[in-house]
Amino acid sequence: MLLKNKKILVGITGSIAAYKSILLVRLLIKEGAEVKVVMTAAAKDFVTPITLSVLSKNKVHIEWQEDFEWNNHVALGRWADLFLIAPLSCNTLSKMAIGGCDNLLLAVYLSTTCPVCVAPAMDEDMWKHPTTMKNLDTINEHHVKIVPVNNGELASGLFGEGRMAEPEEMVNFVVEQYFRSKKLEGKKVLITAGPTYEPIDPVRFIGNRSSGKMGYALAEAFYLQGADVVLVSGPSNQAIVFQGIKTIRVNTADEMFDACILNKQADIVVMSAAVADYKPENPSNQKIKKSEDSLSIQLIKNKDILKHFGENKQLHQILIGFALETENEQENAIKKLKTKNLDAIILNSLNQQGAGFEKDSNQVSFIDYIETTVFELQSKKELAVNIVHHVIQKYL
Ligand code: CTP
Repeated sequence: MLLKNKKILVGITGSIAAYKSILLVRLLIKEGAEVKVVMTAAAKDFVTPITLSVLSKNKVHIEWQEDFEWNNHVALGRWADLFLIAPLSCNTLSKMAIGGCDNLLLAVYLSTTCPVCVAPAMDEDMWKHPTTMKNLDTINEHHVKIVPVNNGELASGLFGEGRMAEPEEMVNFVVEQYFRSKKLEGKKVLITAGPTYEPIDPVRFIGNRSSGKMGYALAEAFYLQGADVVLVSGPSNQAIVFQGIKTIRVNTADEMFDACILNKQADIVVMSAAVADYKPENPSNQKIKKSEDSLSIQLIKNKDILKHFGENKQLHQILIGFALETENEQENAIKKLKTKNLDAIILNSLNQQGAGFEKDSNQVSFIDYIETTVFELQSKKELAVNIVHHVIQKYL
């Protein structure tokens, strides 16, 4: 859960994008946050307070006074760890920029002591209007962070910029901006992920079925603990959701090697890529035409990136590899741990149903010179978080 025990006050203003606030509140709750909602009267035309109250499990605040009770805007602002206004309409933006205070939401904004983040929603022409840009600059100077808008279909039916970010994007944005742990602050982490593609000719290659999921999950888990993360990824359709993770995309093992060498100072190196062990010795410049009944391709060994790092291991460096074995699993993994001069090796289980290549879950053993720790079958995302905790506990 990315937002466990965080208190988030969601502000909703009058915009058609308010329908996404319902999903946003649900997602925040799912990620472990405690949520309260404050909305403008105009927002009620788009979403009903009762829906938001049921989903947030809290009373929704709209007016200065409700049931003869004063709505304490100061207390609401002080309760929250973050005030997230989504959607932010042009009208509310302009009032925020000049310090206007004609409704409860604006009073909370002016009095709150927690960080404020907004997700604008406008038609493209309004979005690009100089006044809007100026107002955004102004609230930005006042330390309000702005969730980038998307390009897409707008309420007007036109396509363009100004569409409010999706709920998942908003959650990722706030997690990245406000709620990363500082445990690994200042540490540099290098991760390799995915397969490599070794060209046979301009259209064919030797590759493997690695999806990159485990490596991407590890990169995100290290990043959320505060580390500076560089992810070197072979061809993969995975996407990194946090802007701050530096992703270097490569195709071949040679390119992966070069990208890793550029980041050889990393404090923690985890190589989860399924690097092709061999590559065609002489890839053809032209597409190979079929002619003979059989075709042989001479393969030569690729550089072993992990082994190279082991041979040149720096004192401050923690080096972790992956192993995928089909027989004598533990014994072979320990052999790899030693010959590649690693601190630890993570042994993938191919025998467990639901684990391995292309799957969303995995079951691994974390092996070092002292002990073997078995991680039960779980999602690759959960596993990555647990591996990172394990590494912090053991080596830092
Ligand atoms: N690795 C690497 N560069 C290579 C090959 C592998 O960095 N050219 C890394 C992988 O990212 C992984 C570990 O080394 O962390 C896997 O070890 P490896 O000995 O290549 O495993 P296998 O390919 O399974 O080798 P073998 O066939 O010898 O068991």
